[in-house]
Amino acid sequence: MSSARPIIVVAGVGNGSGTGAATARLFAKEGYRVALIARNADHLKNTAAGITAAGGEAVPFPVQAYDAASLTSAFNSIKSQWPDSVLRVAVWNAAHGVWKPFLQITDEEVTEALNTNVRAAFAFSRLAITAFKENDLSEIGKRGALIFTGATASLRGNTTTSAFAAGKFGLRALSQSLNKEFGKDNIHVSHAIIDGGILTDRVRERRNDPNWEANEDVRLSPESIAKSYLYLTNQDRSAWTWELDLRPAHEKW
Ligand SMILES: NC(=O)c1ccc[n+]([C@@H]2O[C@H](COP(=O)([O-])OP(=O)(O)OC[C@H]3O[C@@H](n4cnc5c(N)ncnc54)[C@H](OP(=O)(O)O)[C@@H]3O)[C@@H](O)[C@H]2O)c1
Ligand SMILES: *[C@@H]1O[C@H](CO)[C@@H](O)[C@H](O)[C@H]1NC(C)=O
Ligand SMILES: *[C@@H]1O[C@H](CO)[C@@H](O)[C@H](O)[C@H]1NC(C)=O
Repeated sequence: MSSARPIIVVAGVGNGSGTGAATARLFAKEGYRVALIARNADHLKNTAAGITAAGGEAVPFPVQAYDAASLTSAFNSIKSQWPDSVLRVAVWNAAHGVWKPFLQITDEEVTEALNTNVRAAFAFSRLAITAFKENDLSEIGKRGALIFTGATASLRGNTTTSAFAAGKFGLRALSQSLNKEFGKDNIHVSHAIIDGGILTDRVRERRNDPNWEANEDVRLSPESIAKSYLYLTNQDRSAWTWELDLRPAHEKW
């Protein structure tokens, strides 16, 4: 078994203030080498630099788009970057949101929502599972952990979510199918329904509500979600979770 530090790959890191980046920072503290995938190279560079400055190891792997070709090329670069390490954790956090009444949604938006939320997740899963299958069992009897970030729209459609929910439902179906198919290979696939607003810079700007920001009872912190991802990763194989739902204490759900 490789003695080098294990690798985590996180796809969908945004500009460094959300779930993707918080997960990267937490796993870096836990001793993982962090491969960061997102589309904006400058934002990625900043996120990687922040992790490095804090004593961790992180390298940016920017992609032009969330598609099979770009993700394959990123995974090849990750392998070349750390030939002596194995991939142990893969987090699919990327999403393409469309929030519009049905009759206003264009065919391009449907394509984009399905391409990012479903097709690219298939490509990412294929790459992660192919890598995991080469691994020896870890100390807790796992070859690898693959985690998907879901949303309220993973379970419920609503007035403006036809395209987004179709994508998130699809992602959930993928995660369940993979959990069942690859459990026998000791590959742990899980899906986290994030059922509430996450305090990211983007959401903070959109909501512009200091009371919401300040109140941990009503919104999710990216760092708290990251802790749950670490928990999923460290679950024993005799009791592991396919699906987790996470919401703030006062969520009306
Ligand atoms: N924020 C919420 O309130 C909320 C609630 C429930 C579920 N979720 C889910 O959580 C995941 C995202 O995590 P996050 O919200 O904490 O943010 P995050 O980790 O910063 O990730 C942002 C994701 O959104 C993409 N994105 C698309 N347009 C963007 C823009 N204008 N600015 C920034 N990012 C943009 C990013 O792609 P690049 O990395 O390529 O830029 C990245 O995939 C998604 O799967 C989402 O469906 C979010
Ligand atoms: C559904 O949409 C309505 C109208 O935008 C909103 O008030 C409600 O909170 C949404 N429900 C869920 C479960 O997101
Ligand atoms: C992230 O993007 C938001 C919205 O554009 C912005 O307010 C924030 O300053 C950005 N954060 C970083 C770290 O670039």
